[in-house]
Amino acid sequence: MENKVNTKDKLVYSKQEYKNGFFGPYGGMYVPEVLQSKLEHLAGVFEEKKKDARFVEEVQYYFKHYIGRPSPLYYAERLSKEVNSRIYLKREDLNHTGAHKINNTVGQILLAKHMGAREIIAETGAGQHGVATATAAALMGMRCKVFMGKKDAERQEINVYRMKILGAEVVTTERGTATLKDAINVALEYYVQNPDAFYLLGSAVGPHPYPSIVRYFQEVIGQEARQQILETENRLPDNLFACVGGGSNAIGLYAAFLDDPQVNIYSAEGGGEGELLYKTASTLVMGSPLVFQGTYSYCLVNDQQESIDTYSMAAGLDYPGVGPEHAYLKDTGRGHYFCVTDQQALEAFRLLSKLEGIIPAIESSHAIALAMKMMRDRPDQLSIINLSGRGDKDMGRKLV
Ligand SMILES: Cc1ncc(COP(=O)(O)O)c(C=O)c1O
Repeated sequence: MENKVNTKDKLVYSKQEYKNGFFGPYGGMYVPEVLQSKLEHLAGVFEEKKKDARFVEEVQYYFKHYIGRPSPLYYAERLSKEVNSRIYLKREDLNHTGAHKINNTVGQILLAKHMGAREIIAETGAGQHGVATATAAALMGMRCKVFMGKKDAERQEINVYRMKILGAEVVTTERGTATLKDAINVALEYYVQNPDAFYLLGSAVGPHPYPSIVRYFQEVIGQEARQQILETENRLPDNLFACVGGGSNAIGLYAAFLDDPQVNIYSAEGGGEGELLYKTASTLVMGSPLVFQGTYSYCLVNDQQESIDTYSMAAGLDYPGVGPEHAYLKDTGRGHYFCVTDQQALEAFRLLSKLEGIIPAIESSHAIALAMKMMRDRPDQLSIINLSGRGDKDMGRKLV
């Protein structure tokens, strides 16, 4: 790992740079030996299943009949009027369980089923991935254990309750900041000790093959959005907006448009209190490249190049790392990443609720806030915002 060079200035976006779990210099599989063979096996099964028409059909069946896909692409007329621009919302909030996370959990649980897994383990921040995993495990009749930081369990209490109703065991940890990165550490330790479990990772982060697997199952968002906007507007959008925690809903939307250079890609990170280390979770704005939790990507670090504690009011964005593909998109300039504060997200949360009758997840509200800021008084611009989830999970908190 010491050999990694920051090649930032030389990178140009190219799909050719995606090879064996690397996105340019980012990605890879930096894990203890016991996990290596396990992950290599998973990578092999994944490659095989992607080419297996029956598997693809099975995934499509559950996407349609269980999740309720395709999700609508909705023209937000009152929001557009308010901003003086043209804005569509990709309604992932309308999926079964209320967020994009279910696309990935249904896909991965079908992989797990084909691999003969009996126990599913997962980490969760906002609880949406935990709920989606508990749901998919119930659907397949598998045992499920979800690891969660204690702070997240408290701020997303409703989702903890949902996971328990669905029959999952929720294991909370008080380690570190008791948030997502700590939950991932505990889940990885459990995985090392119980390598027969299937680790159903919830974002496009971690060691190879997870960033590629999660991207694959989330790509449906962008594929649908592309077709829908062409049908309604007869042209591609000028801009895409999404929030980035680990980066799965964002890459899910962007993937279908990456090779259309005229489509701008703008991401909102959990900025917390602003561009201040320890008070933010804005990894790509404030961080540096580092091997963290099994992959080489950006991370929020101290002077000793160690990962540091983060802060964002959005549990799903409160994470010091980010998916390696986003690191590559940032360095090549194909994607642009911004720090969106709690305050800005809250204002967008309230506005969208009142203007459109849609209560967004606090995570998704970051993307709305960024779009509102960048698209103000640009009536010629056509944008799609990924509405990654609904706000039901945040109802226990004082948001108005
Ligand atoms: C509704 C919602 N949006 C976004 C995220 C962030 O995750 P990702 O960056 O993987 O899409 C989460 C994570 O829990 C979430 O629940």
